[in-house]
Amino acid sequence: MAKFSLPANSVIKKGRQVNKVEGAKRVKKFNIYRWDPDTEANPRMDVYEVDLDSCGPMVLDALIKIKNEIDPTVTFRRSCREGICGSCAMNIDGKNTLACTKAIDSIKGDANIYPLPHMYVVKDLVPDLTYFYAQYNSVKPWIEHKSPLPPDRETLQSKEDRAKLDGLYECILCACCSTSCPSYWWNSDLYLGPAILLQAYRWISDSRDENIGERLDELEDPFRLYRCHTIMNCTNTCPKGLNPAKAIADIKRLLVDRK
Ligand code: SF4
Ligand code: SF4
Ligand code: FES
Repeated sequence: MAKFSLPANSVIKKGRQVNKVEGAKRVKKFNIYRWDPDTEANPRMDVYEVDLDSCGPMVLDALIKIKNEIDPTVTFRRSCREGICGSCAMNIDGKNTLACTKAIDSIKGDANIYPLPHMYVVKDLVPDLTYFYAQYNSVKPWIEHKSPLPPDRETLQSKEDRAKLDGLYECILCACCSTSCPSYWWNSDLYLGPAILLQAYRWISDSRDENIGERLDELEDPFRLYRCHTIMNCTNTCPKGLNPAKAIADIKRLLVDRK
């Protein structure tokens, strides 16, 4: 009979209460997933208390405060702190999102913070995105020319054609959508997932690209594209308000239209 329980060394254990805040009016508990590849220990949830009156408003502010003032070993990625770089993506309060744009006040009770789900973990809140980026590379995220480029000027685009990239070019490759997609959880080795398919559609939609036929050929595959079953988790979770499920549907429509 199939066994669906986690391997023993993946079970998340109760961690330690790292600090206590005394004499503050607004104290919030942050339960943070911790795993160190340099030890044999199971992952655990450590508990940190933060005085919200001496902390910025976003979850990333609290994480930085914890790292700077309480426990320098807590590990996470961040760069821009304004929803542009995509590096602070994690699972907060049960939803994949960006720590820098997630307001602490929007979380009722303790803040539970995990790495993006169903990914290998490098350490603590840092997922291994190596394969995700390899999949991105596989869709050739650049303009491809068949004809020689005009030698002395840019490849121009009308305003109308430029507008076709709206809702696509804003993707910051945070991977929140792909790691919330059940099809990607089970088949991420073969299925490209919503983030990469939205990116693929971004290049298909670019009037300056001259390789649309081959791009569609590459996607016409039962796994790379058609593992999407329109469950819509991707669109529900995107912290940039994009609609990867629609981009996937548009690719499928193009494949039907060209038959
Ligand atoms: S579509 Fe949204 S959730 Fe997905 S990678 Fe792009 S920005 Fe992130
Ligand atoms: S719509 Fe497709 S890509 Fe989005 S979550 Fe569902 S199966 Fe995944
Ligand atoms: S730190 Fe760049 S998106 Fe959050």
